[in-house]
Amino acid sequence: MVCACIDIGTNTTRVLVADAEKGKLTEVLQRRRACRDFRDEPVAPELLRRVAAAAASASTASNVPYRHLMIVDDPRVIRAIRQISPALRADPPCLLIVMTDVAMAVERVGRVGEVSSLIDSGAAGENAWLAAIDAGLATGFTMISAMAGIRTILGLPDILRVDLIMPLGYPAEHAPTVSRRRRPSTPLHVNQYGHVDS
Ligand SMILES: Cc1cc2nc3c(=O)[nH]c(=O)nc-3n(C[C@H](O)[C@H](O)[C@H](O)COP(=O)(O)O)c2cc1C
Repeated sequence: MVCACIDIGTNTTRVLVADAEKGKLTEVLQRRRACRDFRDEPVAPELLRRVAAAAASASTASNVPYRHLMIVDDPRVIRAIRQISPALRADPPCLLIVMTDVAMAVERVGRVGEVSSLIDSGAAGENAWLAAIDAGLATGFTMISAMAGIRTILGLPDILRVDLIMPLGYPAEHAPTVSRRRRPSTPLHVNQYGHVDS
C-alpha cells in the first residue's frame, strides 16, 4: 500500500511505503498499461492527491523545486484541453498535469536544466502511474505541442512548460490489460555495447 503524508519538518509531501508487501511492486509494474478508455465515474479527491503526492516524490536535478503539478477535474477545462490536444484520446474524469518552471531549472541547474527537467517529469509521471494502478485507477502519458493554448486554458505563466498530461480515472471494462500487452524487446548490454545479456 502506498500512502502520502506531509512532512511537517520540511513541509514537503512524501510517499511512504507502509505495509510493503513482498512482490507488490513487481505486480504493479506488470499491470502498468497506457489507458485511453475510462469509466464515467468520479475519483475521490484523496485518491487524486495520493497520485499527485507520488509524482511529487520523484527527484529533480540538484533537488531544485522547479516541478509544478495540477489536478484538473472540471469537465469544462478537460473538454477545452481535449479540443487542442489530439494526442489526448481519452475522455477521463480527471487529469494530472506535470509542468516545469523552465526559468528556474535553467537558472539553478544551468542549460542542462531544460533537459534534466524533462527526465524528472518522466520520473514523476511514472511514479504517478504506479500509484494510480496501486489505487485501482488507470492513466497514461500524453504530450502537448499547443503550449500557448494550454497556458491560456490553465492560466499558466509563460515560464511553465507542460511536460505531461495524464488522464486519470477508473479503466473501462474493455481497456487494455496485461494479458493483451505487446512487449517490445529492450536490448540489455553488459559492460560493453553488444555484450547482450541472454
Ligand atoms: C513520452 C511518452 C509520450 C506519450 N505520448 C502519448 C500520447 O500523446 N498519446 C497516447 O495515447 N499515448 C502516449 N504515450 C503512451 C505510449 O504510446 C504507450 O505507453 C506505449 O504504446 C506502450 O504501451 P503500454 O504503456 O500499454 O505498455 C506516450 C508514452 C510516452 C513514454
